[in-house]
Amino acid sequence: MKDFKKRLCIEQLLATTELKEVNSSDVIRGLTQLPKTLPAKYFYDARGSQLFEEICNLPEYYLTRTETAILRHCADEIASLTGACELVELGSGSSTKTRILLDAYNQLGKPLRYLPIDVSESILESSTHALLADYPCLQIHGLVSTYEIALEKLAPSPLPTRMICFLGSTLGNFHPQECDIFLLQIAKALQKGDYFLLGIDLHKSKEIIEPAYNDSQGVTAAFNLNILNHLNWRFEGNFDTDEFEHWAFYNQELRQIEMHLRSKRSQTVYLRALDLKVEFSPGETIQTEISRKFDLNIMYSDLQKRGLAPLKVWTDTKQWFALLLCQRQT
Ligand code: TRP
Repeated sequence: MKDFKKRLCIEQLLATTELKEVNSSDVIRGLTQLPKTLPAKYFYDARGSQLFEEICNLPEYYLTRTETAILRHCADEIASLTGACELVELGSGSSTKTRILLDAYNQLGKPLRYLPIDVSESILESSTHALLADYPCLQIHGLVSTYEIALEKLAPSPLPTRMICFLGSTLGNFHPQECDIFLLQIAKALQKGDYFLLGIDLHKSKEIIEPAYNDSQGVTAAFNLNILNHLNWRFEGNFDTDEFEHWAFYNQELRQIEMHLRSKRSQTVYLRALDLKVEFSPGETIQTEISRKFDLNIMYSDLQKRGLAPLKVWTDTKQWFALLLCQRQT
């Protein structure tokens, strides 16, 4: 549709050579250190984003379902609290949950501009087109970008208020130090009075958490292994996904899921574009993700410390998941 062109702009912030070098240094560092690690953003190529959507619909993966129910319950309140605003979403994916917010703003007649940010260009394209078709007044400015680059490059909001949304407990995928830096970046991208909407997964028993990352249909395993296909494509590698297996467990002490890919035997992998040879011993793992589970009171004080005061908090009846609406104080 012609009108789409006027209402949609997708900016690619990941294309420059300079950035490609920065990106590949991540991979080299991760695969040459012990234990080996990989940056989680490599999960999200087109296939990875699609598999993640499937994860969100799995019976064992309680996070999306629970967060969606909370959002349904509080979206109207959020819209009336913030008023007209620019909605910036980090890791927007299919933007399914966002629709609940868009509906609430629409119903209250509050103008809205949507700025979805995702590393996967294909999912950003499909999700924004679907939104334009369903929301005839919506203006969208999408960014194909990592969170860091996008937060640094955000122009001042043309609307009176900005709200940055960070849903799905993606904050839990950061190590504590990265989390600190990230919250600082959020505070910097906001002005006094602007909002930060944060979804976090809370502590609960291992019996509930572990199956969410070890589903019976093997979708999470396929998602985890797909990071190797993505590296093969991007860096001309020869990882054989049959020679690795998915391994995820809950680390009670650190209160985090740890997700790994375990080498089934001794093997050498070569990434031609990086001229990087990587040796694996039998059983050696690459840590691909952590997913921390949070304590609400600790989170309040961490946010407060960063000048992001929690104004309102909503949880489900089982207290499995929480949505926090924070406001930048000064
Ligand atoms: N933020 C999501 C979480 O921590 C990300 C996630 C869900 C995920 N399932 C995964 C990441 C499986 C890697 C693999 O739950």
